[in-house]
Amino acid sequence: QTTVTTATAKPVPTLPDAQTVTSVTHWTDRLFSFRVTRPQSLRFRSGEFVMIGLMGDPDPATGRTKPLLRAYSIASPSWDDELEFYSIKVQDGPLTSKLQHIQVGDEIILRPKPVGTLVHDALLPGKRIYFFSTGTGFAPFASLLREPQTYEDYDEVIVTHTCRDVAELEYGRQLVEGLENDPLIGEMVAGKLKYYPTTTREESTKMGRITEKLKSGELFTDLGVPPISPETDRAMVCGSIGLNNDLKEILEGFGLREGANSEPAEYVVEKAFVG
Ligand code: A2P
Repeated sequence: QTTVTTATAKPVPTLPDAQTVTSVTHWTDRLFSFRVTRPQSLRFRSGEFVMIGLMGDPDPATGRTKPLLRAYSIASPSWDDELEFYSIKVQDGPLTSKLQHIQVGDEIILRPKPVGTLVHDALLPGKRIYFFSTGTGFAPFASLLREPQTYEDYDEVIVTHTCRDVAELEYGRQLVEGLENDPLIGEMVAGKLKYYPTTTREESTKMGRITEKLKSGELFTDLGVPPISPETDRAMVCGSIGLNNDLKEILEGFGLREGANSEPAEYVVEKAFVG
């Protein structure tokens, strides 16, 4: 005889600012995404990040444990009733070595104070917006690509994602491919969105760093758009520090200026979560 126990009560939070994991997807041995419950009071702008984490190991001297928190872009849009995150797995990373093992029903810590510069408010109105990402830097754009305001504010939305190999593009690719069938924003997306994935270390249909494609003009030729201009184009950048710095220089070269919440301009940058 088997006994079936059905959980009817909500799990009792045991951590400070606890949220419950609702799904986990492993994309590669280096990348995974997960969804958690959303605190009812949490409001955020698509593109912002929060601090999330787990309790660390007990301090050997005192036996006390402290939360181990890192900044993570919210990958889900502001209207979603859950929160999604996209993460790297670093085998000796203090947080991600543990976080990669979370399962449905587990709890994570989420500090409900969203902040960040990759928000529409930090850009002046324009005709075309570029989202430039590498690796897990795609996360804030996973949010912004599902945000209706992105399609209300711009005639054209271009998202570039560069990874070492093809498997690392998959989270982004599936998300982009699902957009046109999305009941909420599918119609707004149709005809406006251009997706430009490239790989740098594995053979694929388009290879090379996005910085090189911008400098050579190949990106514009491939997309059939004019070169970036401060009159019409806006950009958001999220990747490694090296990528961010190189892209800043390139965008400034096209005449774009860096914006902020307090002083909107033509482009904004944020560092992707790294380890
Ligand atoms: P590359 O393979 O040529 O280093 P990572 O996995 O190390 O975070 O890198 C993600 C992607 O970003 C890789 O395809 C990598 O290309 C690319 N990348 C890293 N640094 C830069 C940079 N400074 N400019 C352009 N692309 C970069």
